[in-house]
Amino acid sequence: TDRSLLILPGDGIGPEVMAEVRKVIDWFGSAQGITFDVSEDLVGGAAYDAHGVPLTDATMAKAQEVDAVLLGAVGGPAYDDLDFSVKPERGLLRLRKEMDLYANLRPAQCFDALADFSSLKREVVSGLDIMILRELTSGVYFGEPRGIHTEGNERVGINTQRYTEGEIARAARSAFELARRRNNKVCSMEKANVMESGILWRDVVNEIHAAEYGDVELSHMYADNGAMQLVRAPKQFDVILTDNLFGDILSDCAAMLTGSLGMLPSASLGAPMANGRPKAMYEPVHGSAPDITGQGKANPIACILSFAMALRYSFDLGDEATRLERAVEGVLADGARTADLMGPEGGTPISTSEMGDAIVA
Ligand code: NAI
Ligand code: MG
Repeated sequence: TDRSLLILPGDGIGPEVMAEVRKVIDWFGSAQGITFDVSEDLVGGAAYDAHGVPLTDATMAKAQEVDAVLLGAVGGPAYDDLDFSVKPERGLLRLRKEMDLYANLRPAQCFDALADFSSLKREVVSGLDIMILRELTSGVYFGEPRGIHTEGNERVGINTQRYTEGEIARAARSAFELARRRNNKVCSMEKANVMESGILWRDVVNEIHAAEYGDVELSHMYADNGAMQLVRAPKQFDVILTDNLFGDILSDCAAMLTGSLGMLPSASLGAPMANGRPKAMYEPVHGSAPDITGQGKANPIACILSFAMALRYSFDLGDEATRLERAVEGVLADGARTADLMGPEGGTPISTSEMGDAIVA
């Protein structure tokens, strides 16, 4: 087929939730004739155990070749004392860095059946469906100079918020392209009132908009007000475009509008490859959850919804992605719950594997 997918289950519950994605992939093949050229490899602690490194060069090379990488989770207590250079998360960081995945997509979507899980009132979040695009490869987490040094008789900690116009422009283009596939609306968030990088951010976003994306509705908001608005009236947004630091905070905030960590997918996209598809890695937001590993308690939905994002953004299978998301919504509406989705009223949770089976059914 011309759809290649590299699966990296990783550690802890990673392999458990990935097994459920495999069921979904098999269903698309047998019931729909939509097949994928799937390969599987090790990452994180699993790769360290086998090869002494959290990601081998061969796996890295494979990741560069395929249309999409789907990753479970990495890390766990067994690896906490390893040298920093071989820690499991270094495998993940190497993938993001060498694939140059500069656009991190975090949807905040509230399924009606779970609206009471939100920290907010049901009417504020029910039916919510927004997407935060966080610039992932630049900004204050990477800018130079940085470090801790001594000035006079005290220590000073320094980080530098730095963005080139090229870095802003490519993130902005990703956001506008995304908006065209959704509801044609982008809100860009920075702090142009107090930051030079914010002024440049706003200018460049306006320039790209005027030159290339006049059909998309664009607004700007200071990021602190954005945080308020996300909690006050999140449905006013569709795509939110923001930098690395504000995106880190705003996407975690938006995530909690919708409930459990076990429900949250993500995508990280880079530049288009020769076949026109973007470099891409998809992964659930959650980690390896060592506290529930091996007990059949993990919620596979975050990983399954990450695969739905791969269908939509890497393989141009938007209808199939929607169909998968509707299946998840339907199963939840029927009352199926893994343990992390049990409310105070209780009930009997189903297992990881039962949840996967229900979604396929
Ligand atoms: P975590 O996300 O693994 O777990 C936090 C809590 O949420 C735990 O109580 C866990 O049981 C629960 N949880 C997470 N995913 C769940 C799911 N799918 N279904 C049901 N419950 C779920 O974060 P934590 O505990 O901070 O980190 C554990 C390990 O994972 C560490 O080694 C950490 O470094 C690693 N980690 C890896 C990430 C990745 O691979 N992208 C991201 C975050 C943490
Ligand atoms: Mg964060």
